[in-house]
Amino acid sequence: MSKSDLIIRPDRRRFLLGASGLVAGASAFRFPTPAIAQGAPLKVGLMLPYSGTFGRLGQFIDNGFRLYAEQQGGKLGGRAIEFVQIDDESKPESATDNMNRLVGRDKVDIVVGTVHSGVAMAMVKVARDTNTMLVIPNAGVNEATGPLCAPHIFRTSFSNWQVCQPMGKVMFDAGHKNVATITWRYAAGQQMVDAFKEGFTAAGGKVVEDLAVPFPEVEFQALITRIATLKPDAVFAFFAGGGAVKFVRDYAAAGLSKSIPLYGAGFLTDGTLQAQGDAAEGIKTTLHYADNLDGATNKTFSEAFLKKTGKEGDIYAVQGYDAAALLDIGLKAVKGDFTARAPMVAAMRAAKIDSPRGPVSFNKGNNPVQDIYLREVRKGQNVKIGVAGKAVDDPARGCRA
Ligand code: PHB
Repeated sequence: MSKSDLIIRPDRRRFLLGASGLVAGASAFRFPTPAIAQGAPLKVGLMLPYSGTFGRLGQFIDNGFRLYAEQQGGKLGGRAIEFVQIDDESKPESATDNMNRLVGRDKVDIVVGTVHSGVAMAMVKVARDTNTMLVIPNAGVNEATGPLCAPHIFRTSFSNWQVCQPMGKVMFDAGHKNVATITWRYAAGQQMVDAFKEGFTAAGGKVVEDLAVPFPEVEFQALITRIATLKPDAVFAFFAGGGAVKFVRDYAAAGLSKSIPLYGAGFLTDGTLQAQGDAAEGIKTTLHYADNLDGATNKTFSEAFLKKTGKEGDIYAVQGYDAAALLDIGLKAVKGDFTARAPMVAAMRAAKIDSPRGPVSFNKGNNPVQDIYLREVRKGQNVKIGVAGKAVDDPARGCRA
């Protein structure tokens, strides 16, 4: 980590601010001073989970973002950058305060974050209130590029709808007519299950039961027993990070993987395979990435990420990498002059990113338009076995951009 990096943990910040520094609303802050001298480092706030069930996901996004910047000599659009980092712990209840501190106190120019849909909702609201540029490198909450869309809010990941709607037809066509769903009870889980059901019921399928545990609980036993009783043709699941590891292992340990095939959003098996081991073999998922994509960009990205971190890249690393790529495109268009907001945003909106995942462009809500692959876990790899949707475009319902 370089000297310019500031790691601010919420508890430490609270201590530094004292009771009087704790305010709930954006209105109590002075908004960022836009006139940053040309050439001064651009301040990038990384608001990500660095701990908890999504901790590894946040770390991989962070590493992906930094890798891209390092490949440009530590600059984006020719402009030096400096980071202010905050661990959001995937806690929606702290999200408004954390975002306000980055914007109001640390006066970051841009915020990049986060993983959790509930935290992202709070960030989007503050970004709108304070006109702060926000790039979301994971959280799929539909509203961010739907009813709450804004010219200065971009996403380099996916919408919850986008990844899961195509899975409905895939499962129906595979002969599964009666399916149970299981997820965490929070925005992302709800929206992913809803999107799956939209595709599945349109194809003619029937959902026999929706099961859920509170986020980030990992006590799955009672619900796995319920699945064994229901005997659906297959199960559709959304879990991610540490929770996905535990769920997939528990499902296999209960002996269900052989009789009731497990499907899901690709997060169920991305960045988790080493820990899941044999329990994940044969799971089919839909996602905008696969381990064996044969494009040159994926090859060079994967090699560079492995060299930098000693770890295999995954979708989270790709999304972080592309967040930096998108900002690079925007800043290049304005020769590093971040205050030229309108042309910068226009360049980002028109961007065509040659991503490790394949080609990415942006829709009217600033959500990526991208292929959704069908993958199967084979010998510890998420292998692409088909394309569930070509250039899938989130409908951006409610976005009046
Ligand atoms: C989300 O909350 O939007 C979310 C979290 C983790 C994932 C995917 C989506 O892997």
